[in-house]
Amino acid sequence: MRITINGGEYEAAEDETILGVAERNHIDIPTLCYHPDLKPEARCRLCVVEVEGKLETACNTKVREGLVVVTENQQISEARKLNIELLLANHGHTLDEDNELVRLARRLGVKKIRGEPLPEKSLDSSCFSLYRDNNKCVLCGKCVQKCQDVQGVEAIGYVGRGYHTEVAPPLNHKLSDVACVNCGQCAAVCPAEAIVEKDDSSRVFKALASEKKVVVQTAPSVRVSVGETQGLEPGLVSTGKLVAALRRLGFDAVLDTNFAADLTIVEEAHELIERIQNKGTLPMMTSCCPGWVKYVEHFYPKLLPHVSTCKSPQQMFGALSKTYLAESRGWDPGDVISVSVMPCTAKKYEINRPEMSDSGRRDVDFVLTTRELGRMLNQKNINLGELPDERYDDLMGASTGAAAIFGASGGVMELLSALRQTL
Ligand code: FES
Repeated sequence: MRITINGGEYEAAEDETILGVAERNHIDIPTLCYHPDLKPEARCRLCVVEVEGKLETACNTKVREGLVVVTENQQISEARKLNIELLLANHGHTLDEDNELVRLARRLGVKKIRGEPLPEKSLDSSCFSLYRDNNKCVLCGKCVQKCQDVQGVEAIGYVGRGYHTEVAPPLNHKLSDVACVNCGQCAAVCPAEAIVEKDDSSRVFKALASEKKVVVQTAPSVRVSVGETQGLEPGLVSTGKLVAALRRLGFDAVLDTNFAADLTIVEEAHELIERIQNKGTLPMMTSCCPGWVKYVEHFYPKLLPHVSTCKSPQQMFGALSKTYLAESRGWDPGDVISVSVMPCTAKKYEINRPEMSDSGRRDVDFVLTTRELGRMLNQKNINLGELPDERYDDLMGASTGAAAIFGASGGVMELLSALRQTL
């Protein structure tokens, strides 16, 4: 079918929304509660457009033959501005913040936030990975949908009624008391910084300024995503510049989690062979992801015997940094601080699991997400684009690179079976 947007004619599929057609044709419509992975609930009303004289939300309005849409005029601008002013009213935001909600408010012409913040809403710092501040939550609902519909966890939902509605775990429990797997997908989609990763950057800066030996490992994905935190092209592989930047921050050793990923392949392959030969529990499932391990513990405990007993690459690496690495460099293991840069907030939870201290010390002391590392680089005016390419330190910076497919479905098992054929 064909529809008209701003006077131009466009092809549209039967089940497409106005927003879908507009985005495909590079016609800008502001959105806040919309996310391509989620069913549109049209909670924010910032995507209003004019359809045959009436304002309708573009994110959930399906096209129909001959539809005539206008995406910009005075009435639309005023409606969008009013809607975002009402969203922001009585919340703990200021107009100089740098988050999706406030950036959009500035773009829509908001100059002043209406009303005073409401009486204190709930704060939650109980979990190792995430921090919630409901004074900033505008109930866009993306975190709830992501947790419930995509992750299948349901650690958060809506509590209270009407004006008193808040996003929180059931019965307003703390996140640490419910079956949250610490995956951080809620924080990844929150436009208002009402749920954020717990920021460890100041503790890492403090360690770097101390006399301690501070070593860092970087997960495979970080080299691909860190550039985006500094405005480089999304997906650009910045391995050498990442290494150079970490040296500029002052790390005493810059190492690659890929090294421990190879060890994981060897360890898990041995375990698999041992299970096959001794009629152990099969199939064996990987234990590389702490979010997955916690998910099994909460929701499928009967499957726990299927999960490999090996530590994840992050934890193997942490243990080695306080044993093998310390010994090979002549460092007192007690003086080593182990930092990892990881793509996922569940890694912050993982380092705090009680069993993750086989060396007699905590294997990994701090986890930074890629976003935290990006903020640290910005604070120190370290510009990835201006740095030369440097190489990871030997030996724990060397690897086969096989970890590149760990994150793909079946990736670890593919490598295990490849290794098994060569053993
Ligand atoms: S983006 Fe359409 S209503 Fe929120």
